[in-house]
Amino acid sequence: MTKIDVLLGLQWGDEGKGKIVDVLTPDYDVIARFQGGPNAGHTLEFGGIKHVLHIIPSGIFHTDKVNLIGNGVLIEPRIFRQEIEELDAKGVDATRNLLVSKKAHLILPSHRMMDAANEQAKGNSKIGSTLKGIGPAYTDKIARTGLRVGDILASDFRERYIMLKEQHIRMAQTLGFDIDSFRIDGLGLDQYEQLWMESLDTLKRFRFVNSEYFINQCLRDGKRVLAEGAQAMMLDIDFGTYPFVTSSNTITAGVCTGLGVAPSTIGKVMGITKAYCTRVGAGPFPTELFDETGAKLCELGHEYGATTGRPRRCGWIDMPALRYACMINGVTELYVTKPDVMNDFDQVCMCTAYDIEGRQTDEIPFEYNTVPIHPVLTPFAGWKQSLAGIENYNDLPANLLSYLAAIEQQTGVRIAAVSISPDRKDVLFKAQ
Ligand code: GDP
Ligand code: IMO
Ligand code: MG
Repeated sequence: MTKIDVLLGLQWGDEGKGKIVDVLTPDYDVIARFQGGPNAGHTLEFGGIKHVLHIIPSGIFHTDKVNLIGNGVLIEPRIFRQEIEELDAKGVDATRNLLVSKKAHLILPSHRMMDAANEQAKGNSKIGSTLKGIGPAYTDKIARTGLRVGDILASDFRERYIMLKEQHIRMAQTLGFDIDSFRIDGLGLDQYEQLWMESLDTLKRFRFVNSEYFINQCLRDGKRVLAEGAQAMMLDIDFGTYPFVTSSNTITAGVCTGLGVAPSTIGKVMGITKAYCTRVGAGPFPTELFDETGAKLCELGHEYGATTGRPRRCGWIDMPALRYACMINGVTELYVTKPDVMNDFDQVCMCTAYDIEGRQTDEIPFEYNTVPIHPVLTPFAGWKQSLAGIENYNDLPANLLSYLAAIEQQTGVRIAAVSISPDRKDVLFKAQ
């Protein structure tokens, strides 16, 4: 019996999970997504070409590996179809190696409308949702009114679909939402619904499985399984910066519910962190930089959302948040991405504690959203050189090695590798 390894983001998303999954895929037989949906945007780069995946696991370009969309994931059939078509255009036939859980929930066009209606109703306190329907679809899952992939094949699917849609329309009307003006990709709800329905045919071309049996059999057969997280720790529904979070458990525990594996089967937990920090959407971000340095991180790091194109907010790495992430997730090794973005910085800072009303603390307070939090910063000398062409971890500049050693010391977790460019080839593993 093998264990299931986990890879997840430790910050507010976009840490480079997709890239690292792609790099690690040769070591695995199965790559499985366990939560989230099209709110995710996972970028992979190789051969000079960039690929962005939303619902499909990041192992898909390795055609000899099985990719699984687990029960905890949300599928929007139209977006799924577009992803499949993009892969087709690149010569990747996903029908050969992509399995879909029958228990994965569906995002309806009216879930996307409800996402927009809820955001509008929140006014200034809106979450900054990706508007893919995540919150409303998970709400229906919990309310026991959702539709699942396996339901597509049922004879009463249409009726159930209509009932749910009508419920959403009534809710949107109650919120005073202008349904007639609502658009998805420039289309009204009815027009988009037509495309959505047609897209079910694409989904039906895939093998629907009882994925909990599939995964457990894989583990019994000694296959190596990697669970790929979406979003990240600080967006977790329970432990993130609620209510500025996504609607799923993005943490290691989510692997158990999102794939149907027992806690005792969890193996390595690989946590991904940028060498700095970003956040897209609203919510607290204690180390955010509103100055030139923040703008530089955004520009040099190409910090624009892979799903929405929105500029990401940028700031220094946040150790209290990272330590919290290591604790909640049981992180066994760290992957640090994007130090190359700071190559020409004279100085790089690390937040080692929070100052809250004159008191220093290491904890993420319950009042994270409401009290002013000042980061206590430790400066590090910049390394002031390009990392291009470096092939060994130990050949990294001394100042960067000191910075990385401080991350290890602050978290108590060893760094397994550092990524120094968007390309698949630039991941430097540290000798054990
Ligand atoms: P994910 O959601 O965690 O998979 O991350 P995203 O794909 O949303 O965002 C990460 C961005 O950083 C993508 O544009 C990647 O191509 C890029 N990236 C990943 N690793 C590195 C790195 O080490 N250096 C640089 N400069 N870019 C990277
Ligand atoms: P990956 O997997 C960064 C953010 C949104 C918003 C909040 C809720 O690429 O790291 P939702 O649409 O889930 O209701 O939005 O969460 N968010 C992400 N931020 N990366 C993501 O995914 C995200 N998925 C959602 O910006 O603030
Ligand atoms: Mg992303």
